[in-house]
Amino acid sequence: MEQVDVIVLGAGAAGLMAGIEAARRGRRVLVVDHAKAAGEKIRISGGGRCNFTNLHIAPNAFLGRNPRFALSALKRFTQWDFIARMDSAGIAWHEKTLGQLFCDGSAREVVAMLLRDLAAAGGQVRLNCTVGDIAGDIAGNIAPSGARYVVQTGSGAVRAASVVVATGGKSIPKMGATGLGYQIAAQFGLPVTETRPALVPLTFAPQELSWIVPMAGLALPVRVACGAGQFDEAMLFTHRGLSGPAILQISSYWREGEALHINLAPNTAMAQALEQAKISAGRGGLARALAPHMPAKLAQHFESAFAPSKAIAELPRADLTRIAAQLHAWPLRPVGSEGYRTAEVTLGGVDTDHLDARTMQAKAHAGLYFVGEVVDITGWLGGYNFQWAWSSGWAAGQVA
Ligand code: FDA
Repeated sequence: MEQVDVIVLGAGAAGLMAGIEAARRGRRVLVVDHAKAAGEKIRISGGGRCNFTNLHIAPNAFLGRNPRFALSALKRFTQWDFIARMDSAGIAWHEKTLGQLFCDGSAREVVAMLLRDLAAAGGQVRLNCTVGDIAGDIAGNIAPSGARYVVQTGSGAVRAASVVVATGGKSIPKMGATGLGYQIAAQFGLPVTETRPALVPLTFAPQELSWIVPMAGLALPVRVACGAGQFDEAMLFTHRGLSGPAILQISSYWREGEALHINLAPNTAMAQALEQAKISAGRGGLARALAPHMPAKLAQHFESAFAPSKAIAELPRADLTRIAAQLHAWPLRPVGSEGYRTAEVTLGGVDTDHLDARTMQAKAHAGLYFVGEVVDITGWLGGYNFQWAWSSGWAAGQVA
């Protein structure tokens, strides 16, 4: 039977990083993946330019039952450490906005760097390779052969002292997401918190869609709030509902039945702006008064909704104040999301109470590690999720 020290399940961001680090310690490492190429999500991320980290990594940018679990790994392998790897590989990058770092060229360069580092350290990658049953010594003892686990793969059984589960979440099944990591967790008695699609466009009932759809393609900066989340970013109208960074971000905080509160003019005191318009352009309608603050089509929609066929001069101050208040906290109730088909990540995952924050090892199973998206740690949009994958993979790679 084939024998290695470390078998890594999943050749994505977290698995490749764990494999590189373990191989650099002289461990015999095999990374297996059922996909035909490694790092496929890296390749397509950030519109092909991979938003590989964020300058402002901080605990408040992560969700989960215990987001502070992520701190140890994030502090030991930081955004600066990953940036240093990019620099030493000669991969040019730039900050786009809000601390988000992207490749100047192609995300493929990041995948190539990781595969080069893994090969240089002596690690192997086996693609097009399915993962089947995992038999483990439940007591966590090391067998005389030096192995604790036997993993059935498409290329035969592999014996390994350590298994690193880096199979990601459920998002984008078309790209190979299977949820295998959650099954492995369940097999070894590790609870999995509720999983749901996140960083995902939100959908609306036909009544809302009737006016949203004609706006498809329009984008505007907003401040959107729901639950404990609040984001100042762009919102995009689509044929299915709302998207854009502001909506993807808030989708991680939204739950069924809740309304989003959207401030359509976050940097303008709308009550004063409307009062001013009453003086300077009193004969025009509400749409004309709103036009400097939002796309004309949206301004027209609000005129029809709030003050059809009225000159702004005819609107009493109380009405203007009420309209301004609505524009600053416009309530919209999604009915759902586009689901795992388009979600960038999966919220929830392997319960961090059952993992060691320093090593990512299952507390009750020596040699069994969970890294990356499969763990109940989810970052904001903007490079946070890749940083979690690098940091958690690195942490496991130091000990696996
Ligand atoms: P990841 O999903 O990358 O890797 C898991 C691997 O396991 C895959 O290669 C898969 O084939 C393999 N696998 C799964 N099941 C298996 C099975 N049963 N048998 C064998 N192999 C199996 N984040 C960010 O920080 N910046 C960004 O720009 C983006 N952009 C982005 C765009 C899009 C379209 C998506 C879908 C996602 C992003 N993300 C992102 C999120 C980011 O891609 C994600 O957080 C990381 O890829 C997670 O890394 P992991 O290694 O944990 O899982």
